[in-house]
Amino acid sequence: MLKNNKFESKNFLSNFDMSTQEVLNILEIAKNLKSKDLNIKLKDKVLGLIFDKSSTRTRVSFQVAMSRLGGTTIDLNPTTSQIGRGEPIKDTARVLSRYCDVLAIRTFKQKALEEYAKWATIPVINALTDLEHPCQALADFLTIKEEFGELKGKVLCYVGDGNNVANSLIICGALLQVEVRIACPRGYEPNSFVIDRATKLYDDKSLLKITNDPFIAVSGANVLYTDVWSSMGEESQREQKDKAFNGFSIDTDLINKAAKDVIVLHCLPAYRDKEITDEVIESKNSRIFEQAENRMHVQQALLSYLLS
Ligand code: CP
Ligand code: NVA
Repeated sequence: MLKNNKFESKNFLSNFDMSTQEVLNILEIAKNLKSKDLNIKLKDKVLGLIFDKSSTRTRVSFQVAMSRLGGTTIDLNPTTSQIGRGEPIKDTARVLSRYCDVLAIRTFKQKALEEYAKWATIPVINALTDLEHPCQALADFLTIKEEFGELKGKVLCYVGDGNNVANSLIICGALLQVEVRIACPRGYEPNSFVIDRATKLYDDKSLLKITNDPFIAVSGANVLYTDVWSSMGEESQREQKDKAFNGFSIDTDLINKAAKDVIVLHCLPAYRDKEITDEVIESKNSRIFEQAENRMHVQQALLSYLLS
């Protein structure tokens, strides 16, 4: 179904695991599933969810996506399974591979996710780690494509922490040749390995810019994006980060420097009046709830691809 297949491993641990063509194909399938021009059924397939961190959108959108495909989901809560009692990943992965057809895993370290993938004999999907949130980035670019049609020539400006969400946006942006500008306080830049590898994907290397000035970054941008300043697992740094990120909120002053038809995205959950004002979330520029809906369509497309 998909050309230029980088998915030989059939894992989706990183946005780097897909080729440009695969991203475009997944977005196209998601669009057609959403409009109901496409109906894919994966009868009897079972998705296992392992979530070591909290989740509303990712968990529910995966469950609903699987149900729409005619399959079922088992939510493997680490606190009620042996996972939370320290059973080695290599044992859990091999056992679950005998019951399930695909696993979506949210955990702390990318290395732990890679360990699951190493031992599993079924596809493993990254449902968020410290390094990346690749399913989120697919939904984000679907939302941008729905708004503007053509992606090339668009400018995505991310203001905030250079975290997992920023890393995945950078990689997906590079695959799609979309200009990505990241504005973050000094010391909170995205992962340097991600930046270097993503830069190599761009035909025009100047399309990826990292700056410490949100007002310069936002100038003429078509998409303004932010995420929480302190991610899950960083609770002890909250006070220090709140101070460091002063001046990095998306508010109406910042919006006024962007393109007239700018749209605003946030992966959610949001801390109103920290990284983004309530006024902006509720404004006509916001596509935040369309973006949240698109998690389900994109993951339905992804599951159908990995399991077909
Ligand atoms: N955006 C996102 O991944 O939300 P959840 O943490 O609720 O899954
Ligand atoms: N960067 C956030 C994203 C939550 C969806 C975190 O990792 O907590």
